Amino acid sequence: MTANNRIVLSSDHNAVELRQAIAAHIAAQGWAAVDIGPTTAQSTHYPRQGEAAARLVASGDCRFGVILCGTGQGIMMAANKVKGVRCGVCADTYSARMIRQHNDANMLAIGARVVGEGLALDIVDAFLAAGFEGGRHAARVEMIEALEG
Ligand code: RB5
Repeated sequence: MTANNRIVLSSDHNAVELRQAIAAHIAAQGWAAVDIGPTTAQSTHYPRQGEAAARLVASGDCRFGVILCGTGQGIMMAANKVKGVRCGVCADTYSARMIRQHNDANMLAIGARVVGEGLALDIVDAFLAAGFEGGRHAARVEMIEALEG
């Protein structure tokens, strides 16, 4: 585990229960779960929830972010607009591992209407257990960063 053990969690109204289950799961592993809500199923806006989480990661306040909406896609798109964020949507553990190893992803998006809780927890575990491999992948991540302007 890294020195900064804070993981921000955020979602829209479609993923409140799954987000809370993930927060409890990672907290049980020793991570500090920074859950920025929402806490009810009242309608929210995934761009705002994604941006808020992304800013905590981009600033260095949180090491990683786990964000959710119905598909994971909309909140991922919003998060990736924040400079310094690399977020991928994952519905399988292989992709979750690879976005850390090859893409140095610092945020993970999951679709609450796409995967069940058991798979979602495995996806989070795969993401957190993997490390960036560097080497030839570092140059490619730098190319992504260069696109940010
Ligand atoms: C909200 O209904 C839905 O569009 C949202 O949860 C997400 O799936 C968007 O990408």
